[in-house]
Amino acid sequence: MAIKITRPQGTEDVTPKQIYKWHTVEHMARDTAEAFGFHEIRIPTFESTELFLRSVGETTDVVQKEMYTVKAKETEFTLRPEGTAGTIRSMLQNGMLNDALPQKAFYILSCFRHERPQAGRLREFHQFGVEMAGSPGPASDAEIISLAKAILDRAGLKNIALYINSIGCPTCRTAYHKALKAYFMPHKEELCDTCLTRLEKNPMRILDCKSPVCGEIAKDAPIILNYLCEDCQQHFQQLQTYLRAMNIEFTINPKIVRGLDYYTKTVFEFVTTDIGAQGTVCGGGRYDGLIEQMGGKPTPAMGFAMGLERLIMTMERQGCAFEEPTTCDLYIAPMDAAAMSTAMQLGQTLRASGYQVEYDLMQRGLKAQMKYANKIGASFVMVLGENELQSQKANLKNMETGEQVEIPLNEKFEEKFDDIAVQYMFHDMLEDLKKECQ
Ligand code: HAM
Repeated sequence: MAIKITRPQGTEDVTPKQIYKWHTVEHMARDTAEAFGFHEIRIPTFESTELFLRSVGETTDVVQKEMYTVKAKETEFTLRPEGTAGTIRSMLQNGMLNDALPQKAFYILSCFRHERPQAGRLREFHQFGVEMAGSPGPASDAEIISLAKAILDRAGLKNIALYINSIGCPTCRTAYHKALKAYFMPHKEELCDTCLTRLEKNPMRILDCKSPVCGEIAKDAPIILNYLCEDCQQHFQQLQTYLRAMNIEFTINPKIVRGLDYYTKTVFEFVTTDIGAQGTVCGGGRYDGLIEQMGGKPTPAMGFAMGLERLIMTMERQGCAFEEPTTCDLYIAPMDAAAMSTAMQLGQTLRASGYQVEYDLMQRGLKAQMKYANKIGASFVMVLGENELQSQKANLKNMETGEQVEIPLNEKFEEKFDDIAVQYMFHDMLEDLKKECQ
C-alpha cells in the first residue's frame, strides 16, 4: 500500500471551508492600509541569502538558526523569513525612493522560519505588513502604530495591549553595548554558545535569546531607555504625545528589543494573552539605517508586520465576526440530458452576471440532488424536467422559506431571477437588522 504523504511539520493547509476567514482579514487589512495611502507590493518568495544577512543581521536567531537556504546551480538563495528586507530591496531596485516620499507599501506574504513548531508558531506563516520610507519624525511612528491599531480594531479585537519602547540609535547604542557587556561578562560561563559570540559582536541580541537560561540571566540586564541620547529621547516623548492625542493606549516596555537587527529608535508590539505563549500578533518599528546599509541614500523608514495565523486565532478565540462565506445562489436540478443542456445555458447566463450557480454533475436522482443543494446552502433551487422544458416555465424554490415562484425559462429568465434575488437580499438584510435590534 502506498504511504500517504502528509504536509511538512510547521505548515498548515487552509481548506475551502476555512478560506473565508483569511479573506476577511486580508480585505480588512488591505482596505485599512489603502485608507492610509498604502499600496500593495509583491516581491519574490526567495531572495539572495546575502540580503537577509545584511538586513536581518548575522547574529539574530532568524539568520543563525532559522533560515531555509537552498543552493541552486552554485547560487545560494533563502526563502524570505520576513517581508521588510525584500520590500526595501525592491524599493531600491525599482527606483521608488527617487519618487515622491514617503513611499508607502503593504504586502501579504508567506514567510519561512525553521523554528520549533507550537500553537501560533509555524515554519511557514503569513504576514500582512507595511513599510513607509522617507519620513524621519515621530508623527510617522504614530501613523504606523495607528494603522496597525486600526486593523486590529476593525477585526473587533479586544484584550490586545500595545507595548512600545525605544532602542535608540547607533550613538546611544555604543554606551548601552558597553553596559550590557559589563553586565553579562560575569555570566559568561552560563550563556549558550550563540550568546557567547553575541557578547562580543552584538550583546543586545542576548536579550531575546529563546534559551531559558539566557532569559533568566538577562532578566536584570540594563535597559536601553536609560542610555538614550537627547534626540532619541525627544523622538520617543513626542511619539507618546501623538499616541495620547489619538487615544491609543500604550505601555512602555523597556524589555522589547525585537528579534531583527535593523531597528533603531521606536519599536512596538501588540500582544494578547488569549492565544497562549505566542501572543505577539503584530510587531514593528523604525529602521533608519537599513536603506543606507543596503546601498541606498540615507533614508529613514518604519513599518510593522502582523502574523495572520495569530490574528485569525485571536479573532476565533474572542468570537469576532468574519465575512460570511459565499454560497450557491441557485442550484439547478436537471432530470434528463435535455434539461441538463438548459441548466448549462441558464447557468452560463447567471454566472456571467456574478451569481454563483451549480447544477448536478453526479447524475444523481432528485432526492439526492436536493440533499446536496441543502448541504451547500443554496438559496434557491430549480428543478428542470420534461414539463418545465415544454412549458418554458419552472418553479424557483426559496430554500429558507419553502416559498415557490414561477420563473420563465426564456430570455426573461435573468431579469426575473435578478428581481427575486434582490428581494431575497433585502429580506435577509431586514431580518439581520431585526436580530441586531433585539
Ligand atoms: P517579526 O516580529 O519577526 O517582525 O514578525 C512579525 C509577526 O509575524 C509577529 O508578531 C508574529 O505575529 C508573526 N510571526 C513571526 N514568526 C512567526 C512564526 N514562526 N509563526 C507564526 N507567526 C509568526 C518582522 O517580521 C518584521 N519584518 C516586521 C517589520 C516590518 N518591522 C518593520 N517593518
